[in-house]
Amino acid sequence: MENISKRIKNLPIGIFDSGIGGLTVAKSIFNLLPNEKVIYLGDTARLPYGTKSKETVILYSIECLKFLLKKKVKLIVVACNTASSVAVPFLKKITKIPILGVIAPGAKAAVQKTKNKKIGVIGTVRTIKSMSYIKEIRKISTDVKIYSQPCSLFVQLAEDGWTDNKIAILTAETYLNTLKKEKIDTLILGCTHYPVLKKTIAKVMGKNVILIDSGEETAKEVKSLLEKQNLLTNRKTKGTHKFYVTDFPSNFKDISERFLGKKIRKVEKIKLQ
Ligand code: DGL
Repeated sequence: MENISKRIKNLPIGIFDSGIGGLTVAKSIFNLLPNEKVIYLGDTARLPYGTKSKETVILYSIECLKFLLKKKVKLIVVACNTASSVAVPFLKKITKIPILGVIAPGAKAAVQKTKNKKIGVIGTVRTIKSMSYIKEIRKISTDVKIYSQPCSLFVQLAEDGWTDNKIAILTAETYLNTLKKEKIDTLILGCTHYPVLKKTIAKVMGKNVILIDSGEETAKEVKSLLEKQNLLTNRKTKGTHKFYVTDFPSNFKDISERFLGKKIRKVEKIKLQ
């Protein structure tokens, strides 16, 4: 028994995303849990998920999950707001391994932080349509007001590195105008790409609005879940990080560095089925 639990503790954490955006979540997990081994899968061949139908996102997410299960991971993080919004209940039916999405941690943090009880949520069209953040916030609080806004163009701006130029500012001003008018005091960055645009979003929203990075909140939740289930690694050295993608986009190197904050030395291309 002792040996089995020791073996499970030292298995990697599996993370998947529709592409490279989930690296912002991975980065927070690497920082908080440096000794954990991590396997990251980015379904770059089929990115974006945010504009696809619910059925397609569920199907793709199941394929990502199955890949990570084959790698023998101890916990799976769905590091994609879109996949977390629609696929997590379906994924949970496939395995007993704990699965954590990014919605609940972001929603919880926002309810804790808001003072005027006015929360804004931004994300992809699919995430906003799913109302996943609203449902999650409502589980914790019935008296906060929630204002949602899809911001599809942010994904492309983040990928192209247009994070603080005139176009980024103008796009942010246009998307965020209504949320500003509603005087929200807390804004959930409900898409993996948005932390890259944090400075611009903060500038447009003003200093009185708290930005919630669902990646950071998810990393805290991963740690607490591993602690509760006695699954934290007992390794005393840094864990290895392995990266898999389903395609190499032309600007992969630059984007991944921007999202992760450091170079990825080795990435393997795989096929999902
Ligand atoms: N990772 C996605 C999300 O967080 C953004 C990119 C996409 O649309 O696939 O919703």
